[in-house]
Amino acid sequence: MQLEITLRFPTMRTHYCGQLRSEHIGETVTVCGWVDRRRDHGGVIFVDVRDRTGVVQIVGDPVRTPEAYPQAESLRNEYVVRVTGRVFQRPDDSLNPKLPTGEIEIYAEAIELLNKVEKQLPFQVSTAETESVREELRLKYRYLDLRRDRMAKNLTLRHEVVKAMRRFLEDNENFMEVETPILTRSTPEGARDYLVPSRVNPGEWFALPQSPQLFKQLLMVSGCDRYYQIARCFRDEDNRADRQPEFTQLDMEMSFMTLEQILALNEALICHIFKAVKGIELTTPFPRMTYAEAMDRYGTDRPDTRFGLELVDVSDLMKDSGFKVFSGAVKAGGIVKILPIPGADSTISNVRIKPGGDLFNEAATAGAKGLAYIRVKEGGEIDTIGAIKDNLSPEQKQELLERTGAKPGHLLLFGAGDAETVNKTLDRLRQVIGRQLNLIDDSKINLLWILEFPMFEWNADEKRLEALHHPFTAPYPEDLGDLKTARAQAYDIIYNGYEVGGGSLRIYQRDIQAKVFEAIGLSEEEANNKFGFLLDAFEYGTPPHGGIAYGLDRLVMLLAGEESIRDVIAFPKTQQARCLLTDAPAGVDAKQLKELYVASTFKPKS
Ligand code: AMO
Repeated sequence: MQLEITLRFPTMRTHYCGQLRSEHIGETVTVCGWVDRRRDHGGVIFVDVRDRTGVVQIVGDPVRTPEAYPQAESLRNEYVVRVTGRVFQRPDDSLNPKLPTGEIEIYAEAIELLNKVEKQLPFQVSTAETESVREELRLKYRYLDLRRDRMAKNLTLRHEVVKAMRRFLEDNENFMEVETPILTRSTPEGARDYLVPSRVNPGEWFALPQSPQLFKQLLMVSGCDRYYQIARCFRDEDNRADRQPEFTQLDMEMSFMTLEQILALNEALICHIFKAVKGIELTTPFPRMTYAEAMDRYGTDRPDTRFGLELVDVSDLMKDSGFKVFSGAVKAGGIVKILPIPGADSTISNVRIKPGGDLFNEAATAGAKGLAYIRVKEGGEIDTIGAIKDNLSPEQKQELLERTGAKPGHLLLFGAGDAETVNKTLDRLRQVIGRQLNLIDDSKINLLWILEFPMFEWNADEKRLEALHHPFTAPYPEDLGDLKTARAQAYDIIYNGYEVGGGSLRIYQRDIQAKVFEAIGLSEEEANNKFGFLLDAFEYGTPPHGGIAYGLDRLVMLLAGEESIRDVIAFPKTQQARCLLTDAPAGVDAKQLKELYVASTFKPKS
């Protein structure tokens, strides 16, 4: 593909390296960049020069270009150079079809050394280098890591995604970008806040926003109508491959739209992004699943639907079974579910399922106390550990096999206990086994909406209901009769098993808001203390509104085919929430702390 770049103002170069093609043959060009690698082919020297757009081959020939040859010879990896020369067709035996510039080469007439590398490189940067480098080293020398092909491509992709978002929202849909404060009050997303002490208001603290939620709703009250922001959010939570303490959302809020209209607009946005950055046409509408169905079939509200291995609920069947672990679980208000795995005889041994085995450990990590199983033999006979078999009637056995569709070779893994633990366990096992058995087609793009979330979930520690999304999410009007079991007008968008976005219609009527606060045990006084400014604003004429926020890092990670959002963030934090490049966080002067009226209670271990 031709790389179209037209710059209006002159620079030290005439072209970018990755821009040159056979149509430039015969032209004298100047490129600038880094020496990707240098090869000496018995007299003739080849130097690959790299910039943001790719690499181009420079030739230093003692006979054809004697003036630049000595300079070509002195170049080393990562030197910064400016090269002028004529573009030639490569001879047939050195064409490189893998490289966009692989049909041409530049015979160097002048090589200007702009800067040397003074230190030993901590790792090889070259595009041709395939050796993997430790992540700590990459993060410490991130500026070098970002020169590498993979990371340069990821950053470019991220930029293209944001560009596509802006084009769609601004040019097609009349959205307006508004910046919201970074120094603010605590927002209601439910993670721990990052706090900033106020010097001029001693003893008082700002919180960094977990999202722009409250401000974007206020913007709707202000008549902004369609807001968006590429917004930085801060959450002090445990980091994972898809979580950073500071991350970016595409944040949106819209007035006067129904839930269906919001979903349709968002599907068009996603289609626009896929078309712009991947050239892929997605079909709409995206599939939908209710929260209840997702939990039932997959044990999670972000199911990876690229493969089967669906769960089967057998609670009713096990309620009266003689196997006490199962019947006891159901009688205590819990559930019994099965993860059926076909053809498992040769792939999953008993050792792996029994205590100490890897699958057992996975289940234990998810909170399961044990991992019961049944293997189905020829003729429908079953084989189990422990007491399951002896306590199943022939009818129960038959029903089990029918419901799970089990054939000879099937392994049935059981989860029994409270619904949360069972679902968590079987979801985890399903994902691990799906990956191990190669059931996941990585080329698939499965986007789906999860709808009809419950408004609340039970917080067992605090013994109270808690808003599943946040307390401004509107319930379905028909569920207002019993708010505790009401469904929320909320939606999450799932991409290959990752939650890449979520949002809701908001409450905009005072009386419904009061009922929701009451349900989560928030007194009027507490509510006013926390969100008084928003509740006040709602009394001045609030339009019906709703919105959504996408995790930009997650979306780009998936589009890039990466497994960690760290690989699509220019300067990410480690799992321990540290920046290895700047060595932050770091201690500060006692004087600074004094000015802030802050004293640390931390005592280092001696
Ligand atoms: P939510 O909390 O679901 O909703 O966040 C929206 C999306 O942001 C991404 N995300 C993260 N990405 C990286 N690291 C993190 N620590 C992290 N936390 C969340 C996820 C998630 O789907 N204000 C609401 C949105 C709304 O209702 O409009 C909100 O923030 O992809």
